[in-house]
Amino acid sequence: MKVAVLGAGPAGLYFAISMKRRNPAHEITVFERNKADDTFGWGVVLSAETLDNLAANDAVSAAWIREYFAHWDDIAVYHKGVRTVSTGHGFCGIGRKRLLLLLQRRARDLGVELIFETEIGDPKSYMAQYDLVIGADGLNSRSRAAFAEVFKSDIDVRKCKFVWLGTRQKFDDAFTFIFEKTEHGWVWAHAYQFEPETATFIVECSEATWAAWGFGDMTRQQSIAACERIFASYLGGHALMSNASHLRGSAWINFPRVLCARWSHKNLALMGDAAASAHFSIGSGTKLALESAVALADYLHSQPTLEEAFEKYESARRTEVLRLQSAARNSLEWFEEVERYLDLDPVQFNYALLTRSQRISHENLRLRDPEWLANAEAWFQRRAGNTDNVRRAPMFAPFQLRELKFRNRVVVSPMAQYKAIDGCPTDWHFAHYAERAKGGAGLVHIEMTCISPEGRITPGCTGFYAPEHEVAWKRLVDFVHRETEAKICAQIGHSGPKGSTQLGWQQSDAPLPNGNWPVMAASAIPWSPGNQVPKAMDRADMDRVRDQFASSAAMAARCGFDMLEIHAAHGYLLSSFVTPLTNRRTDQYGGALENRLRFPLEVFHAVRTVWPAEKPISMRISANDWVGDEGVTPHEAVEIARLLQAAGVDICDVSAGQTSIAARPVYGRMFQTPFSDRIRNETGMATMAVGNIYEPDHVNSILLAGRADLVCLARPHLTDPYWTLHAAVALGDRDVSWPDPYLPGRDQLYRLAERTSTMGLKV
Ligand SMILES: Cc1cc2nc3c(=O)[nH]c(=O)nc-3n(C[C@H](O)[C@H](O)[C@H](O)COP(=O)(O)OP(=O)(O)OC[C@H]3O[C@@H](n4cnc5c(N)ncnc54)[C@H](O)[C@@H]3O)c2cc1C
Ligand SMILES: Cc1cc2nc3c(=O)[nH]c(=O)nc-3n(C[C@H](O)[C@H](O)[C@H](O)COP(=O)(O)O)c2cc1C
Repeated sequence: MKVAVLGAGPAGLYFAISMKRRNPAHEITVFERNKADDTFGWGVVLSAETLDNLAANDAVSAAWIREYFAHWDDIAVYHKGVRTVSTGHGFCGIGRKRLLLLLQRRARDLGVELIFETEIGDPKSYMAQYDLVIGADGLNSRSRAAFAEVFKSDIDVRKCKFVWLGTRQKFDDAFTFIFEKTEHGWVWAHAYQFEPETATFIVECSEATWAAWGFGDMTRQQSIAACERIFASYLGGHALMSNASHLRGSAWINFPRVLCARWSHKNLALMGDAAASAHFSIGSGTKLALESAVALADYLHSQPTLEEAFEKYESARRTEVLRLQSAARNSLEWFEEVERYLDLDPVQFNYALLTRSQRISHENLRLRDPEWLANAEAWFQRRAGNTDNVRRAPMFAPFQLRELKFRNRVVVSPMAQYKAIDGCPTDWHFAHYAERAKGGAGLVHIEMTCISPEGRITPGCTGFYAPEHEVAWKRLVDFVHRETEAKICAQIGHSGPKGSTQLGWQQSDAPLPNGNWPVMAASAIPWSPGNQVPKAMDRADMDRVRDQFASSAAMAARCGFDMLEIHAAHGYLLSSFVTPLTNRRTDQYGGALENRLRFPLEVFHAVRTVWPAEKPISMRISANDWVGDEGVTPHEAVEIARLLQAAGVDICDVSAGQTSIAARPVYGRMFQTPFSDRIRNETGMATMAVGNIYEPDHVNSILLAGRADLVCLARPHLTDPYWTLHAAVALGDRDVSWPDPYLPGRDQLYRLAERTSTMGLKV
């Protein structure tokens, strides 16, 4: 096969090597604009696993690369003058120039023709002359641009500014992050050794800080001199160096995240940064390039046609690339928002940094560095006021709101059961909630319980509006207090435009087949074309509903509930005021956010006056309508939380969505937690995180990274009322309390867990 490779970066060279290894008869020419030894960049990071993959592909070049590898296990973080070190991370670094020279040598030895100092013109001319053309021409790929309409690239130019520099100062004991507060804002560095005498030193900052420093108007040397001053105390008198002499201007760039809908067209395939880029903070750009090169070479030899090989290449590599890009996105977003976290305690800051990409979990950190993690857990426990046994996971730290003390951070999220009769909870509710209260969670929410018959979502919803409701709820609350250590929270709400609909397991949100009751909302906008048009509330409606909220809260107080939550999320009545999608009012209750929150806050104040002063009140919000700027955005959710906090709401339960049928949520593990993180760290308000959180590992990492104060699990508690007690068994925590009659069961579980762990299995 006659092959033209456009670009002699890691992707192009390694592809040429991999092809020749599979069939020496291929005629391969690599075209490159730079000179053979005129390359940019400093150290390249690869994991031990990647190197093993390379060795399986070409043992010779892998052995050469290994010879030059700098290896380190530790990550050091300088923050607020404190150096924190954790270990067990296992990285290798090699100079990019060294790597390319080795790959060039190997390619030549295998008979690849390398042509330097040649500008690639139109890739179409190569496509006409060669059987196969590889577009390995990097981030600003001409091969990609030539077929823009086919590849449909999506290039997201990210917010931070950075510059790749090097230094002779040694960073040979750890991959080092340095955060420095300067007169113009925070500037940070990512530093790692890659050769005995040289370390990479990437300097990064926000666009605002970059502008305030005037880096854009400086020459490269002026920029370097400024960075040397900023990091003088870490450089030990050594200079910072730039080797991007072929780049114009100051060499500061914004990272472009490249995605392409397709990677191939006719006989041309894109590879490496040309096809997909990964942010340098997870050190995977070169890994992606090399592994894609191996994959395509493989498919070209295992598939019968070029077309099928390309198809395989795209389908098999895409998942891996997307997985890495998603981790890279988490990581780069963390750095973009790092100023939100810089006031955290150094222990928590360090933990948040290490877990930023969500590839390293809490238990994974324990495997890497058990001592460091134990110290971080002890710090968390002590800060939570637990001095007795600090060697417990974060989920078992106590928490307090007003006078209410929670024994741990796990919350049973509110979940409608649709089993009430005329609003009255039944034996089902007693059995269901009593079980969850016995299951170990610190707090159990009851479902959205409605303030009036017409405020119910469905005919099966519970209420706080008739004397028999009070009797039934009080029986449950008394049981929970008498027999368990759980606290119990009443969630109160009004269904608004989503009322008079079918039970959850019927046609959810669809009107009843018969017996519908009239509904109301902030504006006369139906939930969907199939739902009733609600009445836009007038002042008399608002007064009545506000008083019904207060009277329900008074009933919940008489029942003895420990905490109250006002439901202002998910498109129900109060939510219909908050989101601009359903609030089109032109009076003082519509328009600006302060206006849209006016009625929900009137309700809060009315409830607060009847709710005992020593007990907290929470408000559940939808922090993202998932419709873009038309609706509530995570940014506006921070402003919502600020207003709630100013009004005296004790904690914000940060949910999202269910406010519009046009919503396009992006699901995933812990997918709503970033909204809680943002609210908590930008406002200082206590938060609960919720949404697809299902493992103890998730709960612990959310808490220790400071992304929420309490963590709600809904569906996991439907299948396992004892989720918290089971989590304790799995984590080896023996300090949770079980109901006395269940102790023999507990002891058996502990024995089984010990036996499994001595056999090296995970429970
Ligand atoms: C300024 C900068 C510095 C970097 N430094 C590092 C670093 O120190 N460590 C690290 O791990 N990663 C670094 N990276 C990231 C790294 O380049 C990529 O993730 C990785 O090298 C991808 O390999 P590639 O072969 O796809 O692309 P590249 O390495 O970018 O290779 C593409 C090659 O194509 C050539 N080329 C492009 N267009 C043409 C044309 N029209 N005609 C002829 N030749 C052309 C380029 O000169 C280049 O040699 C750096 C990136 C940038 C932008
Ligand atoms: C069956 C069911 C009923 C629910 N009812 C309520 C409710 O009454 N009030 C509320 O605020 N959220 C309700 N939710 C939403 C949950 O509290 C939670 O926010 C959501 O399920 C995401 O959490 P999860 O991924 O842990 O399930 C309900 C969820 C389910 C599955």
